[in-house]
Amino acid sequence: MTNVTLDNITPTVVAALSSDIPDRQKVIMTSLITHLHNFCRDVDLQHGEFLQACDFFARAGATCDDKRQEFILLSDILGIEVLVDMLTNKVTGTESESTVLGPFYRENPPVLPKGASTVQKSFDGQETVLVEGCIKDTDGRALAGVTLDIWEDAPNGLYEQQDPEQPDFNLRGRFETDAEGYYAFRAVRPAPYPIPDNETAGELLRYMGHHPYRPGHIHFMLFKEGYRTLVSQIYDSSSDYLDNDSVFAVKDSLIGEFKKAPEGADTDLVLSFDFTLKQQS
Ligand code: BEZ
Ligand code: FE
Repeated sequence: MTNVTLDNITPTVVAALSSDIPDRQKVIMTSLITHLHNFCRDVDLQHGEFLQACDFFARAGATCDDKRQEFILLSDILGIEVLVDMLTNKVTGTESESTVLGPFYRENPPVLPKGASTVQKSFDGQETVLVEGCIKDTDGRALAGVTLDIWEDAPNGLYEQQDPEQPDFNLRGRFETDAEGYYAFRAVRPAPYPIPDNETAGELLRYMGHHPYRPGHIHFMLFKEGYRTLVSQIYDSSSDYLDNDSVFAVKDSLIGEFKKAPEGADTDLVLSFDFTLKQQS
């Protein structure tokens, strides 16, 4: 019989891991148990606080449905999604940097021709933008036939699935690069917005004394067979919150300049941004 003590509880639990479980599970569970035990010791966690945490996680779970994944939001607020993304998609050469997917991606957006507009509803004071650029591989060869899914919030700071007043798939589209690797679409300047903070995500932000805002950005997902899928965002260089994004997802290389469009153009602004895809190994 083991006499459980403050000194032996951690090795006792680690030793209970079966030798039959796969190596990866053993690595994950050994580290998880050790870090969680050390956290409890470090902060001298008291039972009332433990019960509060259990209640918090129960309420976070109850918030989840097919439209809201509260645990992704909680991990974003703690910088975990961006950390896991950087571990998964390590940059080894000239390929573009990835960043978080976030909770607002929808599969199968409308397939649109090069240059088409994703704007289905206009907002007072909106600024329209032509977004265009070239997609290359890491050897500098233009890539034809790259599929780009793009999505962004409206000038009111809401994605279409958060806002019953917006048409289905507003500000979303699927585009493809042409024979020279060029893509283009028309959209609106993205507004900074607060991440959903009405449930446990908001509680965590307030516990940390942090605000919920993200800088204005356009989301991209780029796929082409034989290349690593790139999930990324372009950030508006003139937006607020570039220096204190609530989910820590801004990278210098992903900041783009929304410039005034030339005289006679059919949009207010132009944003030129190139991407580089990494060949799959
Ligand atoms: C987003 O950019 O859509 C997002 C990312 C993380 C949390 C919430 C929203
Ligand atoms: Fe977003």
